Amino acid sequence: MTDKNDSNQLPYMNSTLELEKRVEDLLQRLTLEEKFKLLRGKTLYAGNAVKRLGIKRFGFTDGPKGVAAHSSLFRRNTAFPTCICLSSSWDPELAHEFGVALARETRAARRHMILGPGINIQRSPLCGRTFEYLTEDPYLNKNMAVSIVKGVQSQRISACVKHYLLNNSETKRGTVSAEAGERALKEIYLPGYEATVREADAWSFMTSYNKINGVYGSENKKYLKDTLMDEWGFRGFVVTDWFATKRVETTEACINARLSVEMPRAIKYKSKNLKEAYEGKKFTDEALDDCVRRFLRVMFLVGMFDDKETLPPGSRNTPEHRELARKIAEQGMVLLKNDDALLPLDMSRIKKIAVLGPNAKRKHEFILKGGSSAVLPPHEITPLKGLKEKCKEKVKITSSAKEADVAIVFAGLRRWKNFDSEAWDRQQLELDDKQVELILNTIDENPKTIVVLVNGSPIGMDPWLEKIPAVLEAWYPGMEGGHAIANVLFGDVNPSGKLPMTFPRVLSDSPAHASESTFPGVFDEEGNFKIYYKEGIFVGYRYFDTKNVEPLFPFGHGLSYTTFKHENLKLSSKSFSEKGKLTVSVDVTNSGDLKGAEIVQLYVQDMECSVERPLKELKGFKKVLLEPGQKETVTLEISKSDLSFYSEKEGKWVAEKGKFKALVGSSSRDIRLEDEFEYLG
Ligand code: GLC
Repeated sequence: MTDKNDSNQLPYMNSTLELEKRVEDLLQRLTLEEKFKLLRGKTLYAGNAVKRLGIKRFGFTDGPKGVAAHSSLFRRNTAFPTCICLSSSWDPELAHEFGVALARETRAARRHMILGPGINIQRSPLCGRTFEYLTEDPYLNKNMAVSIVKGVQSQRISACVKHYLLNNSETKRGTVSAEAGERALKEIYLPGYEATVREADAWSFMTSYNKINGVYGSENKKYLKDTLMDEWGFRGFVVTDWFATKRVETTEACINARLSVEMPRAIKYKSKNLKEAYEGKKFTDEALDDCVRRFLRVMFLVGMFDDKETLPPGSRNTPEHRELARKIAEQGMVLLKNDDALLPLDMSRIKKIAVLGPNAKRKHEFILKGGSSAVLPPHEITPLKGLKEKCKEKVKITSSAKEADVAIVFAGLRRWKNFDSEAWDRQQLELDDKQVELILNTIDENPKTIVVLVNGSPIGMDPWLEKIPAVLEAWYPGMEGGHAIANVLFGDVNPSGKLPMTFPRVLSDSPAHASESTFPGVFDEEGNFKIYYKEGIFVGYRYFDTKNVEPLFPFGHGLSYTTFKHENLKLSSKSFSEKGKLTVSVDVTNSGDLKGAEIVQLYVQDMECSVERPLKELKGFKKVLLEPGQKETVTLEISKSDLSFYSEKEGKWVAEKGKFKALVGSSSRDIRLEDEFEYLG
């Protein structure tokens, strides 16, 4: 590394020089061939170097729930819970903490970018990658995604927001064209991505394999250059999903869309292809330089040309990260049902517990298990192990429900083809027959049967739910999952998670499953495979509430071992105009006898509108931790943008004058207080 004060130091090596000057100085030193070289990968998870100028290989590694083994020389790294668990905490601060830890593990793995977060909207309960994504709701999606990206990049590691765009299913993901209307794109699918740029300055995006309304993500100029860069002001670089350019039309289409890096190796960005297109004037120097400049800019942002000791430190497998993994698992767990307060279990009154089910001792964290997000941790605490450690000699663990005080069935799915996995979608909503039979037999033997679900996406429960007094959704809880589950079951932790996605009663109730053409897709007369987003903006609870379809468990649902009262809803005024804001406040009291956290949710309903709108839309939330008897006033804000819808007719966002309702609740279907207000325009 050259000395900072070295007088003949090249400007781009001078870390005291302003960023854009360093970028431009380096860019203009590159030959045409060196620019071509930088546009493509060298190895599976590294870019090309340009030794002559001291440009090292840019290192990528999979995420988004930890540094994946296959992309970090098979190192063991902290396996955090899957991201649907994190988003079930509805805790942006926790998401930020997670982002910081993720970045430190990335730095320790000697990489510059974590390939995450994955923020595709959870449109279907059967999407194979639901476990990797955050939610069905655009507002919750953007809040959690922005926090993760800010956390990651605070450590001068680049996040990589993926998979841009409309990768909401896995069936034929390499060729399918997702067909979505403009309003659904604007109101549902784009907001999370836009917020990571405008609010978190995301330094990289990853294109999706699929087509977006007929044009592949990697050559889609409308959503890359025009929307992401020109409209939102994205200053980072776009990288392909791996091998995603296999089927794109042309090299120049990718350059003109501003695709900067083709991973893991050249398909369209072979030097001969680039040279031919360049000499054929299929793209300009300006376009080529923009692609290269964006990549160089992120190299500087992650400190590739700065002294290592000036960069934030890396750390992997630390006790702090293990603690954080357990905390996320605990905060993300959702208590779905708890009749007669069967939970929490009282250690002093229980002598024997039956522990049953396929997920009692199954491990979920292993190389490429469920796809690229798999992490290989130093250890994985299974639910059985967590319970054994918790119970020690105090409570006996058995496998016979009949003789036990309480029976716990660990059911659910696994990270595997046709269950929760990249590249495949699930084939059914319900558990397999064997698990249903086990649950029904267990409840027959012991009325105090608890089902703990270990899974990454909604499960249908009709055959058994009404017979089971308590159900806990534990998701894939990561390497510390067994400890977290035991802590929640015995009440050391009071569950506070809320569902980020609707659990439908039956698959046909889900708006994405109206027909084959809406999921998983159909071939059109030209033989193109297409999936039609016919439900438009009516995704998740927006559909269930507006069409009055009863879900199994609604968006935002989650019980606690204590109770909360919501009183005294106040609006700062009965109306406001476009420059103004409305403050909504509500008093929340812990009316039970256990400390606990409540996630207060604010929904807005447009009472009179020229177009059809969802019955309600999430526009605010806040998590409050309260001692028994403690009261806190939660204050949230509503502004014009919260009232707006995207008008396809006018081609812009519109907030119409008229009456609206503020709805405050403990879930989208448990509205405790409401009040009307008027928007004056
Ligand atoms: C995979 C995934 C993507 C991952 C990439 C690199 O196919 O779609 O999420 O980051 O390739 O492994």
